[in-house]
Formats: sequence, C-alpha cells, structure tokens
Amino acid sequence: MPLRARLAAGLAAMLLAGPAAAAPDPALLGDRQAFIADLLGQMTLDEKIGQLRLISIGPDMSRERIANEIAAGRIGGTFNSVVPADNRAMQNAAVQRSRLKIPIFFAYDVVHGHRTIFPIGPGQASSWNMQAIERGARVAAIEASADSLDMTFAPMVDIARDPRWGRTSEGFGEDPYLVSRIARAMVRGYQGDATSRRDSIMASVKHFALYGAVEGGRDYNVVDMSPMRMYQDYLPPYRAAIDAGAGGVMVALNSINGVPASADTWLLQDLLRRDWRFGGVAVSDHGAIKELIRHGVARDDREAAKLAIRAGVEMSMADELYLNELPGLVKSGEVPIADIDRAVRNILGAKYDMGLFHDPYLRIGRAADDPPDLYAESRLHRADARALARESLVLLENRNRTLPLRKNAILALVGPLADSPVDIMGSWSAAGRGTNPVTLRQGMEAAMRGQGRLLYARGANVTDDPALVEYLNQLNWDTKEIVQDPRPPAEMIAEAVAAARRADVVVAAVGESRGMSHESSSRTTLDIPASQRALLAALKATGKPLVLVLMNGRPLDLREASATADALLETWFSGTEGGNAIADVLFGDYNPSGKLPISFPRSIGQIPTYYNHPRVGRPFTEGKPGNYTSQYFEEKTGPLYPFGYGLSYTSFSLGDLALSSPVMARGGRIGARITVKNTGDRAGATVVQLYVRDESASVVRAVKELKNFQKISLEPGEERIVHFDIVEDDLKFFNARLEHVAEPGAFEVQIGLNSQDVERARFELH
Ligand code: BGC
Repeated sequence: MPLRARLAAGLAAMLLAGPAAAAPDPALLGDRQAFIADLLGQMTLDEKIGQLRLISIGPDMSRERIANEIAAGRIGGTFNSVVPADNRAMQNAAVQRSRLKIPIFFAYDVVHGHRTIFPIGPGQASSWNMQAIERGARVAAIEASADSLDMTFAPMVDIARDPRWGRTSEGFGEDPYLVSRIARAMVRGYQGDATSRRDSIMASVKHFALYGAVEGGRDYNVVDMSPMRMYQDYLPPYRAAIDAGAGGVMVALNSINGVPASADTWLLQDLLRRDWRFGGVAVSDHGAIKELIRHGVARDDREAAKLAIRAGVEMSMADELYLNELPGLVKSGEVPIADIDRAVRNILGAKYDMGLFHDPYLRIGRAADDPPDLYAESRLHRADARALARESLVLLENRNRTLPLRKNAILALVGPLADSPVDIMGSWSAAGRGTNPVTLRQGMEAAMRGQGRLLYARGANVTDDPALVEYLNQLNWDTKEIVQDPRPPAEMIAEAVAAARRADVVVAAVGESRGMSHESSSRTTLDIPASQRALLAALKATGKPLVLVLMNGRPLDLREASATADALLETWFSGTEGGNAIADVLFGDYNPSGKLPISFPRSIGQIPTYYNHPRVGRPFTEGKPGNYTSQYFEEKTGPLYPFGYGLSYTSFSLGDLALSSPVMARGGRIGARITVKNTGDRAGATVVQLYVRDESASVVRAVKELKNFQKISLEPGEERIVHFDIVEDDLKFFNARLEHVAEPGAFEVQIGLNSQDVERARFELH
C-alpha cells in the first residue's frame, strides 16, 4: 500500500501554475501521437535539445543552478536524486517556470532493490524462480516510485562468461535462455501493468550491447565477436526485455567489432529500431558520448555529438556535448532536424508513458504527504527479500552431512564478512542504507536465541593489501568501503582459533568485499584474498568441522576452499535479509534449492568456462587419454561446479526420460517426460532442467543449450512426473546468414538437475 496520498489533479495544478504562453494541450492528452506532435510543433530548437539532456544530481551543480537550468528548458531528466522534496522542487521548476511546462523525469540505478535490497543478480538467478524475481522488481518499483522515481537503469542483462569482470555481479549469469526469462520477469516487475501507474517505474535495459564480453574481463575493454555468437548467445536477453515492453535502453560503453556502441548506427537503428521495433528511448551511459573521442572515432566534442545523435543515442547522460554542440550542428546542416525530432519524440513518448503529462507529480506526491521516514516502506518488504534470498543460496558441498547445524550447539562464527552490513548488500545497492541489513551474525544469533551459543571473532580483514584497500576506498560510495581492523593478522587469527577450539562447528564467512565485484573492479585472480586464506588454514588445523559461507559477486576459484571445507554455501551478496536467509539454510529451516546460473571454473586459466560452448573437432573425453584433445593438460577438464548445479539436504533421483514421439514434424511439438523422486528424508525443491543438443547442423552448434526448466517441491518419498513441451522454436538457431532456423535432423534431449548429469533421448526433426 502506498504510504502517501497522491496529487490527483496534477495537470490542472500545472496549468494553473504560471502564465501559459504555450503548453501541452490537455485536450489532446488522450491521443499520445497527436499530443506529442502538437508539443513538438511548439518547441524551439533549444528546447528540443534541452530534452536530450540527462543530468546527474551531485555536488557539481548547485540546486539553484539546476532549477534555473530546468526552468530554461535545458534539462529533460535527472538521476541520482531520490528524495521527494528535492525532486518536487525540480519538477516545480519544470512545470511552473519553463515556457512549455514539460515535466522532467527522475531516474536511478534500482538494480536489485531500492531501499529493501534483494540478492545481487547472480543470486536472484540462482533461485530460478521467476515469480520471486518478478516480485523483487515489483517491490523495488513500489519503493522507488514512493521515493519519486520514474525510471530505473535496469535490468542489467549482459551475459557474463568471464568472472574476472566485476560487473558479473550485476547480471544473471552465462546463459541466454535463463537470462532472457529473468529479463522478462524484471521488466514485468518494474513496469507492472503499465508504466503510467503510480507505483511503476520504467525499465531501461542495459548495457546495449554485449558489454559482458569485454576482452579479458577488463572493464570498458573492447568487444570483438562473431555475428553468429552475438545473435545466438548475447543479444537474446536485451531482445527479451524489449519484447516485454521495456521503455528504455541504455547504450553500452564498449565498442563492438571496431565501432563504439554509442556511435553504432547498425546497432541502434538497424537492429534495435528496424528489426526489433523498439519504440522507446535510448539513453547513453555515463559520459559515453564524450568518450567517443578517447575511443578514437571522434576528433572533438562536436564530432562526438554528431556521431552519437546520428547513430541514435537520444539522451546524453552526464555530459554537455549535446547541449553545446547540437545547435551548431543542426544550423550547419550536419545533423538533420529530423534526428533531433525523432529523439525528442521518443523522450516525450517515454514521459507520456510514465504518466507525467497527465500528472507531473504522480510519483512525487504532495509535500504534506512526504514520508517522515524514507525507510518505512522497506520494513514492509522484508518477507519478500528473505524469501528470495533463501532461494538464492547454493549449497556446493556438504560432506558428512555437516549441514544443517543444530541450534543448541556451540558455534564459532568467524570471518570479515560475518558481520558486515554494507558488504552483504552487494554493489549497486541503490538507496539501501548500510545500517539496515541483517548480517549473518545477527541472523544466526536470532535463530539460536535461547538455545546454543554463538562465539564471534572477526579473524581477518577482507584483505591486508594496502593498495587494494586504497583502491576500494576510492570507489564511489557514500560510506567508506573498507573498515580495517587495525590488529595484527596473527592476533586476529589467534582469537578466531580460540573460538573455534571451544566450538562444535566453525562457520567462516569469507569472500570479497562488495567493491571487489563492482563496476571497474576487474580482477586478475579469482582467489579468496590471502588474509582470509590464512585464517581458513588456521581454522582447518583445529580439526573442527568447517562450514564456509561464501560472499562474493562472481565465481571464485574454490579449489582450495572446497578441499578445506566440510560444507560450502555460496550466498553471493544476499541483501537486506541476507543474514536471516543464510541462517534459515544453515539451521535447516529452509532446505537449499539454489542452482548456479554460471559455471565455476577450476582456475583463472580455464576462463572462459561456460557449459554451452560450441563443439570442437577434438573434444576431451572423460576417462580416455587426453592427448591431442581440447583440454589444459595441467588440470582436470571442465568446471569445478557446473552451470545448473546445487545440492539439497535431501536427495533426488531421475527416472528414464521418455519422448512422446521419435519424430517432430515442422511446426509440431513433442512431449518429454521424466519422473523426479525425493529419495531423502526431508521436503525439498529442485530445478528440473531441459537441454537440447543439435546433433548436426550447417554451422557448429553448442554442445547443449538450456531450453526450459521447472522448479518443483517434493515431500520425502514423493515422486512426480515432470512434462515439457518441445516445439520447433526450441530447435532454432542463427545460421551463417543470421537467419533464425531449425534444420532437419537429429536432436538429443537432455534432462538433469544440473547441466552435466543428464538423462538423454533422441528424436528427429522432419
Ligand atoms: C554505469 C551504468 C549506470 C550509470 C548511471 C555508469 O557508470 O555503467 O550502469 O546506469 O553509470 O549510474
């Protein structure tokens, strides 16, 4: 429920507010196209160019100057301001003082929650629960709109197959099908039934396109990719978000095959507008237009602005190139006015769709209704956050049934992430406040209250590397990123070891600080930092059962950890309710059901490791000599933990896979069915995954591709027949001419509870 009443008669207020020399014609409001055409017809060139400017609200411009710029019609929208009173003042300037009274919009990076923080992308993806993910985005929209926001720069659906890339933490993993499903769920969640609803925010899918494929996983690096791979693996999630109705697209910072996305006419016109029929607004990334100079494709500001607007970048984020250069470029004829008009039309269209012409104060509300406590809403959504967080946890190892733990035991909780509320939120935690999250320590204490004992010792800092600490503290946070415990490492370890000796079981929360998995935080190793590894070695030496609770934004190299630990729980960064959710799993109040949305390589040298890689002529075959096969001879082939993998406190078995027919006709369908049984002694949920392998085609195809999945819950001993329909579309791929086709021939259906251990059956497409 909304906390504030809303201003109903916004337009009336807007029209009463000042001398209406010219203004949107309310009589036309019912007709989007006519309304926008009428407004466009009244605009001067400068007013049009003003609409293309998206400014960041920060210390670089005073409030007064911003209000004056808005009143002068020189700003179309803002981001980074989340306080209704501040946004109201800016909207007042737009609708009371500007000549045309065009409302501005307010955007923000609401990526995995707004005030209530949900798990980061890979965590949400690990749930494979589309309803819960959609609900998370819905909650984010409710909270963000209550804070006067109209738009989010999300979902971030860049396919990530190189975990060195810090922004792996923002996306949903390596698989085009899973990420596409999530893209749709997120857009539905943010936008609700309509973007014009008061509690909806417009989704701007990012980063278009292929940002996750930066060479070497180094942020902002180039992307060089074959068109087939692009179409088959990397583009589908953006397309899915657009087909689900995303009102915006954010253009990526990287170049693609030699052309920066921000200057790429093929990408932004041919693909996005012509082929995909995108009718929304395309915004640049932060400062990206000016960066065309550093990419080396523009001589100066003027040429950069020209390239970007001609390509189809409609709003310039946080630079003034459009404002300064476009007037001259239009006057000289270098940029046709039609380009400007097209951009303005789409921006006004987005504002129309956000409901701002009907009521510029739709999400801002009245001053009298401003919430006394901006965080009040976040307390309403704790249950949603905890539910999704529990499902986001992936049990990687559980030797000797170390987990679940008994609440009446003596437990030692150690590690730099065990009691770190800021880190547990993860990067891009929007308006989440660092004091709100439940840490693991708090979650375990609450769960054990009145029963056993929890002994806590920090044991180590996240890192002792001063250069890394300095780097992390320079990241753009409102709080200091890393707070170092000044004690010598040996003293901290000794304290942790003493606690471990007194305990029945040791729980160590280790991994990365949130800033280590962030924009610009690319890594050359995937190690748990040395300070924490030293702690783990000392804990291991006590001989006590050791449970590792991993907090990290990307797959880590877990060879050592997995050999050391008795149980290993991947928790990503699990958000505001993270500590409770992890405690739920540690104590068995929730049986873990998460499945990895991204492969965990054995070592950094194996990257890229992704399950759906193209076939090769000399594949490595398990159990046979590796010579002259595709492998690294120093290391076991294949990931340490594969895509789709995750354990449970119960066990499941799969029966034989049966197909309804050995043949599929063109345009037809066949059914696949398999029996799944809970063979253990606890109720539990698992994800039944359907993969298809194209046995032979005109081009090299992936070894297998995920095509469907179902998450099911079973009581102990219960079995269920799971059905999937397979249709011709599931067999289609992009051929060498980039046509989306299914070719006749043999296909293998694989069903498993992870991508590697599968039941198989074959059929032919005729
Ligand atoms: C990021 C975007 C983000 C933008 C605005 C950029 O640095 O690449 O993902 O939306 O900043 O905060």
